[in-house]
Amino acid sequence: ARLVVLVSGAGTNLQALLDACSDPAYGAQVVAVGADRDGTGGVARAERAGLPTFVVRLPDFPDRAQWDAALADAVAEHKPDLVVSAGFMKIFGPRFLERFGGRTINTHPALLPAFPGAHAVRQALDYGVKVTGCTVHFVDEGVDTGPVIAQEAVRVGWHDDEETLHERIKQVERRLLVEVVGRLARDGWTQRGRRVSMKCRTC
Ligand code: GRF
Repeated sequence: ARLVVLVSGAGTNLQALLDACSDPAYGAQVVAVGADRDGTGGVARAERAGLPTFVVRLPDFPDRAQWDAALADAVAEHKPDLVVSAGFMKIFGPRFLERFGGRTINTHPALLPAFPGAHAVRQALDYGVKVTGCTVHFVDEGVDTGPVIAQEAVRVGWHDDEETLHERIKQVERRLLVEVVGRLARDGWTQRGRRVSMKCRTC
């Protein structure tokens, strides 16, 4: 399976996928990495791995719809079977989802539907939950709302702050993401969640 991975940050989830993909038995290869901003650690990791990269920045477009269409075009160039949003901090719009909905997955550092959005770890701490975790889910038009594929719990310690808790969640998150992508790559696109179709609709 061909993977395009989208990032906005350090790219440790991307790195976990790159490491997994170095084993041919894993059944997937990262064919390109895209970002929504310059200077991300994720794109630097991709460059070190010799992979094609692209950056599609929202401020370079007159409106969100045109950014969304340009992102979809940039992703489509690499003919992915699966798009992985791995710490990509933007909401996908209708043009992107028309082409890649049903075969775009996202990883989120909380047990959805609890704590969607960009501040999931801080909000879990503020709420005082004793168990949080991570979720890998299909992407739809909402903020972290698509059908859940896999989740794993992480206990909140008495002395955790946002940084220590997020780091522990990320360790689990990387493993879970690698497992899910491997499973989707091996089992093909017909075995997945009830409400989605992984069939390529437009390319
Ligand atoms: C992950 O926890 C992801 O779920 C969140 O941001 C983090 C990205 O980490 N949205 P990295 O860039 O993969 O290291």
